[in-house]
Amino acid sequence: MRSLLFAILFLSGMIRLQAQSPHGPDLKVNCGDCHSAFSWEIEVGRDTAFFDHNQTAFPLAGQHAWVDCRDCHQSLVFPEASPECISCHTDMHRTTAGSDCARCHTSENWLVDNITELHYDNGFPLMGAHAALSCDECHLSESGLEFYRIGNDCMNCHLDDFNATTEPNHRDANFSTDCTQCHTIDGFDWSSQFINHDFFPLSKGHEISDCTQCHTGGSFSNTPTDCVACHQSDYDSALNPNHQEANFPVSCTDCHTTDVGWMPAAYTQHDPLFPIFSGKHRGEWNDCVDCHISPGNFMVFSCIDCHEHNNPSALANKHDEVANYRFESNACYDCHPRGEE
Ligand code: HEC
Ligand code: HEC
Ligand code: HEC
Ligand code: HEC
Ligand code: HEC
Ligand code: HEC
Ligand code: HEC
Ligand code: HEC
Ligand code: HEC
Ligand code: HEC
Ligand code: HEC
Ligand code: HEC
Ligand code: HEC
Repeated sequence: MRSLLFAILFLSGMIRLQAQSPHGPDLKVNCGDCHSAFSWEIEVGRDTAFFDHNQTAFPLAGQHAWVDCRDCHQSLVFPEASPECISCHTDMHRTTAGSDCARCHTSENWLVDNITELHYDNGFPLMGAHAALSCDECHLSESGLEFYRIGNDCMNCHLDDFNATTEPNHRDANFSTDCTQCHTIDGFDWSSQFINHDFFPLSKGHEISDCTQCHTGGSFSNTPTDCVACHQSDYDSALNPNHQEANFPVSCTDCHTTDVGWMPAAYTQHDPLFPIFSGKHRGEWNDCVDCHISPGNFMVFSCIDCHEHNNPSALANKHDEVANYRFESNACYDCHPRGEE
């Protein structure tokens, strides 16, 4: 009887306790895990061992570890708190940076340490002259915290510079307003040092800092791109091999790149006559004169300078059974027109 009475008292006590709870009906944690027998209040900077917030969907990292429960859980119904930064913090950027604050911020402080990456990811790395500027030279807003879209095109910020050019006058020269066609994003100024010349790469034999070697008459326009337009005299004076005698076409790129000294040259048209860039002789010769022993005359060629020296007796052995064998280059070529067996 006594124990039944006790049980009833205890139960009603519990019910009262539940009714008193401000935390909503779904709280799964025991009251005692958070509250002591002395007070409902929970100290700031408390010993958090009593309830581990890191088990929730929102670990209390950085400055949040020192914040009062109530500052985040105003209603005290815990799941009502939203984990989105923007639900508790004012958007200083007036939506110009988007609502995903965590893209740039952590709960340590509001300083942003990935400015470099941010610009890189936006396709506008802050390099060259731009790296030394202060933010507000590009991001013009009262507070300095609004990042309205500017756009990456150089034109958006440098149109006046374009219009003011005199050396050369860009408008007269009909230059494109897509500055990156010629100027690089990492330049410290607009000088030729930072000219992007990718449309006609200034590499290898063309790595020439003196622009006027190609741009004659003080103009950058109407420069020919055809090799022979600038290299006719090189063609005329080429002796090894003699281009005129060999009747080479003046389309230099058939055989040449801009490799310094015009070497190596790929004269693949040779292979139908006798394979030297393919087949058995590929890589086995050094100079045209290895075969064309009479410089300048490509009608003449020798096979036996090599093959004799290589292994004359073996060569003779190979032809023991061959009728009409002669140790003579034209004969070799007649029977081995592809340099093969
Ligand atoms: C996860 C921890 C946690 C648990 C579990 C918990 N509470 Fe609380 N409770 C709090 C916090 C935090 C406060 C606000 C404390 C403060 O303001 O300092 C609070 C406040 C209260 C208050 C005072 C409300 C007010 O307006 O001041 C009561 C009453 C209370 N809790 C009852 C309960 C009861 C009953 C249970 C068990 C059913 C319970 N609590 C379980 C964390 C908890
Ligand atoms: C900086 C803000 C912040 C502080 C400070 C904070 N919380 Fe939370 N709390 C949250 C957020 C946000 C959630 C996640 C809500 C969700 O999405 O489930 C959460 C979740 C919880 C949950 C789990 C709710 C559920 O059922 O999912 C409990 C319990 C809780 N907090 C208790 C506390 C207590 C007790 C304190 C003080 C010791 C505290 N919180 C301090 C922001 C905070
Ligand atoms: C549930 C509410 C809540 C959420 C969600 C929340 N915070 Fe907080 N945060 C607070 C409160 C409350 C404080 C302490 C009061 C204050 O300083 O604003 C605080 C403090 C801070 C502080 C340091 C205080 C300062 O202003 O110097 C930073 C930084 C911060 N929060 C960043 C974030 C970031 C980043 C997120 C998202 C990842 C976030 N917070 C999500 C409520 C929240
Ligand atoms: C794209 C990056 C980016 C995003 C996203 C972003 N911020 Fe910022 N925020 C910044 C930068 C940059 C600063 C200036 C901080 C600095 O100079 O280190 C800043 C500064 C702040 C400051 C401090 C302001 C002051 O007076 O010093 C607060 C508060 C802030 N942001 C809140 C937010 C909130 C809230 C969100 C989400 C709605 C958010 N930010 C989203 C980049 C961002
Ligand atoms: C030379 C001009 C320039 C300077 C200097 C500059 N920015 Fe930017 N910033 C840009 C451009 C261009 C973008 C690309 C987005 C756009 O078109 O507005 C950008 C984008 C941003 C964004 C938005 C990123 C995003 O993902 O939403 C933030 C934040 C930002 N800058 C902050 C800064 C801060 C802080 C500084 C100073 C440390 C700074 N910027 C210096 C030109 C500049
Ligand atoms: C968001 C605005 C913005 C964009 C976009 C921008 N710039 Fe700038 N740039 C500036 C500002 C501001 C300066 C410093 C003031 C000045 O010298 O004009 C500057 C300076 C320069 C300078 C140094 C000028 C000098 O003589 O000191 C060069 C070169 C330059 N920018 C090239 C470019 C190129 C190339 C692009 C496109 C890839 C570009 N900029 C895109 C804002 C921009
Ligand atoms: C077709 C190539 C080309 C394009 C496109 C181009 N530039 Fe130039 N720019 C040049 C050359 C070449 C120079 C001269 C460099 C030198 O003399 O060292 C130059 C020089 C300049 C100068 C310094 C010369 C002066 O008279 O002030 C500025 C400023 C300039 N450019 C701005 C721009 C801007 C802004 C754009 C895009 C809106 C642009 N340029 C587009 C080729 C170009
Ligand atoms: C090896 C020869 C050569 C050198 C050296 C050279 N260029 Fe060029 N450049 C050309 C050729 C060829 C063209 C024409 C490309 C085309 O039309 O596709 C050209 C085109 C240009 C154009 C574009 C003119 C237009 O109307 O669009 C500019 C600007 C230019 N060069 C600037 C320079 C500058 C500045 C230098 C010195 C740093 C330089 N070039 C050095 C061969 C050269
Ligand atoms: C606008 C004029 C111009 C055009 C077009 C031009 N070049 Fe050149 N090239 C030069 C100048 C100037 C030099 C440096 C002086 C020299 O060695 O003749 C040079 C140097 C070279 C060299 C290095 C020569 C050496 O002795 O090391 C090679 C190889 C070369 N050019 C190949 C070519 C080829 C292949 C083409 C066609 C794709 C071409 N060039 C188009 C002007 C031009
Ligand atoms: C059919 C192929 C072919 C064509 C087309 C061709 N060349 Fe050559 N050129 C060669 C070969 C092969 C060499 C020798 C390369 C070596 O020694 O490795 C050579 C070498 C040269 C040499 C160096 C000659 C020496 O005496 O040292 C010059 C200069 C030269 N070529 C200029 C030109 C010019 C200019 C053109 C276009 C107007 C041109 N070539 C077109 C195949 C060609
Ligand atoms: C391994 C031997 C060999 C080498 C190396 C070789 N050639 Fe030949 N070349 C031949 C043979 C064989 C013929 C075919 C002769 C014929 O049809 O009269 C030939 C034909 C030619 C012809 C055509 C002659 C004509 O008008 O009938 C030219 C031009 C020529 N070679 C140039 C070159 C040049 C330039 C080189 C160096 C890049 C070279 N050859 C390297 C073996 C060689
Ligand atoms: C620069 C030296 C050299 C010259 C010149 C030369 N050869 Fe050869 N030849 C070789 C070498 C080295 C081999 C062996 C290649 C191998 O085994 O892969 C070879 C292999 C051969 C073979 C045997 C290929 C096989 O199937 O095993 C024949 C046939 C041949 N050459 C014919 C000729 C003829 C014909 C000429 C003249 C037009 C000639 N060679 C000029 C170096 C030369
Ligand atoms: C009348 C045709 C004829 C003449 C001329 C001739 N060869 Fe041959 N050559 C052959 C035949 C057929 C074979 C294959 C012999 C065998 O496998 O028994 C052969 C074999 C070879 C081989 C060996 C291939 C291997 O398997 O190792 C080489 C190298 C060779 N000849 C090079 C030459 C050279 C260099 C000359 C000029 C001095 C020459 N030949 C002249 C017909 C000829």
